[in-house]
Amino acid sequence: MNKHIFTFACITTLFLSIISCQTTTKDSSKKSVDKKVDSLLSIMTLEEKIGQMNQYSGFYDVTGPAPSAGDAANKYKHLEQGLVGSMLNIKSVKEVRAFQKIAVEKTRLGIPLLFGFDVVHGFKTLTPIPLAESASWDLEAIKKSAENAAIEASAAGINWTFAPMVDISRDARWGRVMEGAGEDTYLGSLIAKARVEGFQGEDLSANNTIAACAKHFAGYGFGIAAKEYNTVDMSLTMLHNVVLPPFKAAKDAGVKTFMTAFNDFNGIPATGNVYLQRDILKKDWDFKGFVISDWGSIEEMRTHGYAKDMKDASRLAVLAGCDMDMESYAYVKNLADLVKEGLVDESLINDAAGRILKVKFELGLFDNPYKYCNEAREKEIIGNNKLHDASLDIAKKSIVLLKNNNQLLPLKKGGLNIAVIGDLADDKSSPLGSWRLAADDNTAVSVIEGLQAYPDNKITYASGPKLFEDSPNFVNEIKINTTDKSGFSEAVNAAKNKDVVIMVLGEHGFQSGEARSRTNLDLPSFQEELLEAVYKVNKNIVLVMMNGRPLAINWANDHIPSIVEAWQLGTESGNAIAQVLYGDYNPSGKLTMSFPQNVGQIPIYYNYKNTGRPQAKGPDQVFWAHYSDVSNAPLYPFGYGLSYTTFTYENIKLSSESFNKEGSLKVSFTLKNTGNYAGREVVQMYIRDMVGSTTRPIKELKGFELVNLKPGESKEVSFTIDTKTIQFYTANNKWEAEPGDFKVFIGGSSVTSLEADFSYVD
Ligand code: NOJ
Repeated sequence: MNKHIFTFACITTLFLSIISCQTTTKDSSKKSVDKKVDSLLSIMTLEEKIGQMNQYSGFYDVTGPAPSAGDAANKYKHLEQGLVGSMLNIKSVKEVRAFQKIAVEKTRLGIPLLFGFDVVHGFKTLTPIPLAESASWDLEAIKKSAENAAIEASAAGINWTFAPMVDISRDARWGRVMEGAGEDTYLGSLIAKARVEGFQGEDLSANNTIAACAKHFAGYGFGIAAKEYNTVDMSLTMLHNVVLPPFKAAKDAGVKTFMTAFNDFNGIPATGNVYLQRDILKKDWDFKGFVISDWGSIEEMRTHGYAKDMKDASRLAVLAGCDMDMESYAYVKNLADLVKEGLVDESLINDAAGRILKVKFELGLFDNPYKYCNEAREKEIIGNNKLHDASLDIAKKSIVLLKNNNQLLPLKKGGLNIAVIGDLADDKSSPLGSWRLAADDNTAVSVIEGLQAYPDNKITYASGPKLFEDSPNFVNEIKINTTDKSGFSEAVNAAKNKDVVIMVLGEHGFQSGEARSRTNLDLPSFQEELLEAVYKVNKNIVLVMMNGRPLAINWANDHIPSIVEAWQLGTESGNAIAQVLYGDYNPSGKLTMSFPQNVGQIPIYYNYKNTGRPQAKGPDQVFWAHYSDVSNAPLYPFGYGLSYTTFTYENIKLSSESFNKEGSLKVSFTLKNTGNYAGREVVQMYIRDMVGSTTRPIKELKGFELVNLKPGESKEVSFTIDTKTIQFYTANNKWEAEPGDFKVFIGGSSVTSLEADFSYVD
């Protein structure tokens, strides 16, 4: 036998024996994965290990992976040489199979690839944008939504999503707030957990679950002035108490991967940040999965002025703990030299490659690299009715009723003459939101279409002026129409003499999302002017808002009787909106971000700190924490949302006035449905720690429950308070509960109605 063939045969036999060993119990299977990883690493060359740390974006032609076109030529070569560990943006069984075949059949060791994709709110069947879903406060529904996204994406061959984004943000100017769970750390942590559990399921090796990725580690939601990719400057108190808990919750829920952030933190880009990745994530939290850079963020460390060249950037990133390079081409070019020159210890490469291989084993890719590649399943699952029904369900739960004077809503199901106005009302793409890489344009149910399901009312539609100069897309800057008013007077005329006018106003689907920061949060283009003109001829307006972030809608709030926050609700958008407008679903969503009165109030959030001067000392006294032109209050607070029915909160009771380390106490109260409809209320509990070793927020959400009540029905609801409820990252730089006095607040929003005092004694 020729020497080369013999060596190859030996390696293959060894490799097959490594991967074929099956185990039964969970613990032993964990150990056995570690063993398999070690054995595999032991037969890999340095270059092959570094190859695992390299991720490329797709380069697929109609005929398959494109071997010869430009940049793709190199990528293709690397793929064949076993120098690629993962691909992103490949989105069908056909494409995944073609790439996997190269990895499995052409490379020396046949190690399968990971296929990552931004499955952020659904795959082809889109669900509401994550900010909207968070407004449902329904953890089960959110988990289900992620589970469905995993089912659909895995049917297209994908085995890893770059979600959930768990960045807390208090700044609606930042376009990416659409992708998060809002401003609150406690709710954000529970949602992070729900999403991770939904994507990854109970068995990651099943063919309908996928690995999740907690991103962006860390601080990305706090870019200065909300400018995308901007620098972040924050205290450790803020980092640990506000930003990190949702990441920790994702880690505790077993998330397999983390993604670094584009921003710097404390002067060091997150991708090269030892404190974030090595110290906190991998040491303190003992995270055993792997960390991927964000797109090109290793390379960008040069531009930040932190690394002097690509080689330096590679060194800094790998030392910091970044295991996989997304599209910088940095690791594959520089790491081997860095190891040979003694600038990077090979043990770091072994650790990084080992972490990546481990996830591949856990997904079951070594048992069957094509396990997600089943055309029949792809055909059966993608876009099926079950996914549509589930998307509709959570879309309804995500809608927030902001105002409903004189019970204009719900609408009567017959005999009404309705005008529907607004460019967005027949838009079948905007409701799909920003992350819709696998969905086709024009596949959402528009508001017009949704309303047509109620045929006993007459609808007249007038779009009004176009919102944009051309059709916005994912990669180019949006051009808002500020010149062409055609359609304006036709829309105003359509509103005359109608029983009700439904105006659908807001943002285009691509007006929020990555790199869509805004300095102005008004309704873009001529929408505000149109709203005011229509109001002059007909005051019976239902304003349906379609947007990816809080907007400043003061005038509307002062004048328009009914306002419905309908976000971008995904594929079933129009149906969900119509069912809520007609009362077939009684709205139950609550805001997870405060809506400002104007942009100048931003960042505005409910859990601010008291300051030394929270109130004026007397009438017109000026030296206190406030603005001279508007009040400190938001337009709509965190946790706020109405229902077609009404709820009252009464009779708050504490089981005792204090508790100690081993103990707890119960706060209970009575919730009553005092209106005429069955409804669902999100009851909320907030806590204030009166004195701390660092200053504490004036209140923090620490519990909530979804309660369904029929008209006239009441229920006693209770929450338990123990040390876990009150602990925080203290001046001792650790999580602990400090003895002292506390307040507990209960209500249907962060502006609460009930209050009681208790203390924690050591
Ligand atoms: C950049 C984004 O910041 C990140 O969230 C996303 O996953 C990657 N691009 C890949 O698309």
